[in-house]
Amino acid sequence: MTVTERIDFGSLTIAFDDRVLRPREWTAAQSRWAADLIATAADGPVLELCAGAGHIGLLAVAASERRLVCVDASAVACDYARANAQAAGMAERVEVRESRLEEALRPDEQFPVVIADPPWVPREETGRYPEDPLTAIDGGDDGLDVARACLAVIADHLSPGGSAVLQVGTREQTDVLRAEPCFADGRLAMIEVRQEARGVLARIDRVG
Ligand SMILES: C[S@@+](CC[C@H](N)C(=O)[O-])C[C@H]1O[C@@H](n2cnc3c(N)ncnc32)[C@H](O)[C@@H]1O
Repeated sequence: MTVTERIDFGSLTIAFDDRVLRPREWTAAQSRWAADLIATAADGPVLELCAGAGHIGLLAVAASERRLVCVDASAVACDYARANAQAAGMAERVEVRESRLEEALRPDEQFPVVIADPPWVPREETGRYPEDPLTAIDGGDDGLDVARACLAVIADHLSPGGSAVLQVGTREQTDVLRAEPCFADGRLAMIEVRQEARGVLARIDRVG
């Protein structure tokens, strides 16, 4: 039987169940970094890719009046993201799109800040996390399949002068991602990498 749990995440109370990834306390650092960027970003909505129950994006925009577009392929995750937005009093400015991220956006959509939290566990290591839904953690052979897809979306939809905060598992993974075409062709630059408690955050700016 599925049981809805609730946890505190920063100033928010987040509902979820075992069909989605349990919110990880340390990921509030991604919300805080995004919130810092949002404070000085150009006007426009914030995009969250791989939003799950929505807590990272919701906390990032909570202190602002920004609109938030959450994207996730899981119907259950999207239902929780909508419910969590409602519980936080943000339903009117949060849009949740149930879609693969590769198909979620119109070609003309631009965002001054993007948050991305793709699955990043290498496929052969996913057995170490039996309680986590496979679709939330399986990042393919090197753990970076969905992260690469996020970078492609960021390259196309991050506004000029905008910034993204991408979560992966290790610094080595950020080094691998630096070889992606969006960096080599000068559209994006990875300008800072932070080691957090159980993962790594990378700030990626639109430079071209
Ligand atoms: C690591 S979880 C992160 C969820 C949430 N941000 C959190 O911290 O709990 C990754 C999420 O990406 C979603 N996902 C995986 N592949 C996707 C894709 N191609 N398009 C959209 N969402 C995807 C999964 O459904 C899952 O909710």
